[in-house]
Amino acid sequence: MIADRDVTAQLHARGDVAVVVPAAGAGVRLGPGGPKALRLLEGEPLLVHAVRRLAAAPSVRLIVVAAPPADVDAVHALLAPVAPVTVVAGGAERQESVAAALAAVPEEVAIVLVHDAARCLTPPSVIERVAAAVREGADAVIPVLPVVDTIKEVDGDDIVLGTVDRSALRAVQTPQGFRATMLRAAHAAAADSHTDDAGAVEKLGIPVRCVPGSDLALKITRPIDLALATHLLALPDPDPDAASA
Ligand code: C5P
Repeated sequence: MIADRDVTAQLHARGDVAVVVPAAGAGVRLGPGGPKALRLLEGEPLLVHAVRRLAAAPSVRLIVVAAPPADVDAVHALLAPVAPVTVVAGGAERQESVAAALAAVPEEVAIVLVHDAARCLTPPSVIERVAAAVREGADAVIPVLPVVDTIKEVDGDDIVLGTVDRSALRAVQTPQGFRATMLRAAHAAAADSHTDDAGAVEKLGIPVRCVPGSDLALKITRPIDLALATHLLALPDPDPDAASA
């Protein structure tokens, strides 16, 4: 196992951001076929698509990937031609994978983003937007989209209890950005399992700021998401924000 390989590997020397990429999940909901981050989208693993877009964001100084423990060497070999990355062994839960990668981020890096490999088409404009909001003073930042469906709360028998006011709801994406000290404190304090890192920061009573996300930052979870992502990749200029990034 190569836990701290290439720990000094840097991308953009002027960048002030480390990105932690949990990529150790099994991806059961996608059907059989191995770890989700290594599934192919137009001939390349999701993780390659994700890291390529992270490496294109000028703020990003280094990337630490948490890979399935059996695949650490293979993932390093896979990503070496794409960008200089550090690869560590992930854990049984997403939270453990993030913690393992965070432990490999040098203390002097003040801003840390956590980005799911499964959101592999997230454009550099979103990565820059999240990093900028932390740089401007926010302790924790999440990219969000409005909720488009009507949302009902139901009981255990699937009987509707009420309709939720969706104007106050947001769907949350990654990368989520943090002052590094805040993320480390939240992880140290988190007793319960959490599905997103901002959730752990919220529990410390720290305000979490929202910035606009992107339809391109969809999470590849089900087979239909792969079909949609294949279509999005074929669009000539899929990121409407690219010009203003
Ligand atoms: O399963 P889910 O889609 O919620 O996973 C979100 C992200 O967390 C994926 O990129 C997945 O690879 C990662 N993950 C991980 N370690 C785990 C479980 C999930 O790095 N044990």
